[in-house]
Amino acid sequence: MVRADVDLVADIGEVLLEEDAIQARVAELAAQISADYSGRQLTLVSVLKGSLPFMADLMRHITIPLRIDLMEVSSYGGTATESSGLVRILKDLSSSIDGSDVLLVEDIIDTGLTLNYLLRYLRGKNPASLRVCTLLDKPARRLVEIPVDYIGFTIPDQFVVGYGLDYGELYRNLRFVGVLRPEVYSS
Ligand code: IMP
Repeated sequence: MVRADVDLVADIGEVLLEEDAIQARVAELAAQISADYSGRQLTLVSVLKGSLPFMADLMRHITIPLRIDLMEVSSYGGTATESSGLVRILKDLSSSIDGSDVLLVEDIIDTGLTLNYLLRYLRGKNPASLRVCTLLDKPARRLVEIPVDYIGFTIPDQFVVGYGLDYGELYRNLRFVGVLRPEVYSS
């Protein structure tokens, strides 16, 4: 249920990444990906729901033919701001990725536990190659070392919302990435 007292913009204490900076970086990543995957069978696999805006912007900046697929996972046993590493697949791939060059599109890598699970899962489906593109990287909290091929921004150890990222399922529609005011967590 949507809380009545939520003011999306007023709840943000600090804007970490402005809309313009995000869009410019997404275009750069897309140019790099277009060059790297030229002549290959690119499939972008995005992980709902947090990666939705990033995926939508990234794919429209990529200039080579590509397919997309969507997965949805939820981690359980954690809290609203902490991942547990126990991952449940809510929506699986729609098509086979056997022989495809798969690029997993993520919103944020925090502990790395979700990504670690997903990579093991996707590797079992025989892609020709499997790499990772994340909008945000929070290396300070990493529990599993995973090579990440494309990183939009490396950010400090703060819980962020906006541009797909949520707190209690809200704030995903903000066009920028920001840090919530501490009062929002305690209310
Ligand atoms: P990990 O398994 O700890 O790497 O967490 C990955 C998932 O936790 C992300 O895909 C997000 O859904 C969520 N998450 C981690 N950090 C943040 C954050 O700062 N804001 C919003 N969601 C986050």
